Amino acid sequence: MIFGIVLMLSFQYFRFVPNYLMKKRENKHRILILGASGFIGNAIYKELCSYFRTFGTYCTDDISFSNNQHFFQYNIEEDDIFEILEGIKPTIIISSLRGDFSAQIIAHQHIVEYLVAHRCKLIFISSANVFDAYSKYPSYENDKTLSESIYGRLKIKIENMLLRLPKRKYVILRLPMVFGPTSPRIEDLKTHLKENTAIEVFPNLILNITTDKRLSQQIHYIINRSKTGIFHLGSKDLVHHNDFIKEIINKLGDYKPVFKQVYTTNEDRYLAVLPKTYLLPKHLQLYSQEILSDLEV
Ligand SMILES: NC(=O)c1ccc[n+]([C@@H]2O[C@H](COP(=O)([O-])OP(=O)(O)OC[C@H]3O[C@@H](n4cnc5c(N)ncnc54)[C@H](OP(=O)(O)O)[C@@H]3O)[C@@H](O)[C@H]2O)c1
Repeated sequence: MIFGIVLMLSFQYFRFVPNYLMKKRENKHRILILGASGFIGNAIYKELCSYFRTFGTYCTDDISFSNNQHFFQYNIEEDDIFEILEGIKPTIIISSLRGDFSAQIIAHQHIVEYLVAHRCKLIFISSANVFDAYSKYPSYENDKTLSESIYGRLKIKIENMLLRLPKRKYVILRLPMVFGPTSPRIEDLKTHLKENTAIEVFPNLILNITTDKRLSQQIHYIINRSKTGIFHLGSKDLVHHNDFIKEIINKLGDYKPVFKQVYTTNEDRYLAVLPKTYLLPKHLQLYSQEILSDLEV
């Protein structure tokens, strides 16, 4: 009798669940994060894995990843990305990789071929360095990219592959320096403080910044709202590199740091990516002071 009532109620429930909701649940994305063992990729994995079928790659042998069925070992120089793509069939790929530059270009060419042939889009983690040849002003989404560094030119090359595709197929995220309580940049600072060695600061470098936590929340929003195109994801305000590093050190404790001031030019130089065209909602925009509180451990 009770079984009959439960059956009837559940039948009633499903009868009145609107079709579009049922569809939404069925259509949940399959997300593949390339570089999910890394600093940024892992933060994104942790943010998304409770909401989507999320998979990731790692490169260096690690028992915690090899025991996790959602993780696949992938070496960009040796392995064929097609095998992983055909195995997982992602609807969203997030590229958060490092590794040999020529191998990165070939892997992204293969990813583009996959995007063309499947219902899938790529979220590519790019960098403020795509503008590192310009130093006089901050850069905005539609500014022409130009870089003097090999790293910046690699990012431009991959961005240009994506820009030739229909806009619905890609999201390009240009990031400034990314910090986090356990980020390599903070770990490096802690080591210098402990060993009393010199910390390099760039007094005439003006930049914006972000954290792994804020970035992951912004990506979650971009996925939920099916946003596409180019996004500049950094703090709304700009900081001098040396001032920001000093403020971080104050948060870390009572230290007497040794600094090595590095001047690459005589004038102030900008390495900042600001949004103008593609703004995220207010609660996802951030300021450097909030970033400092995020860094408190
Ligand atoms: N961190 C920043 O401030 C910043 C700023 C702007 C843009 N970005 C971009 O964000 C992305 C991620 O950076 P991150 O700081 O998170 O770097 P990371 O911590 O060094 O992570 C890099 C990821 O790539 C994987 N990887 C390295 N070599 C590989 C290879 N040969 N084959 C396959 N996978 C390989 C690593 O795997 P294992 O760890 O398992 O070896 C790891 O998962 C990069 O594209 C970077 O350019 C970073």
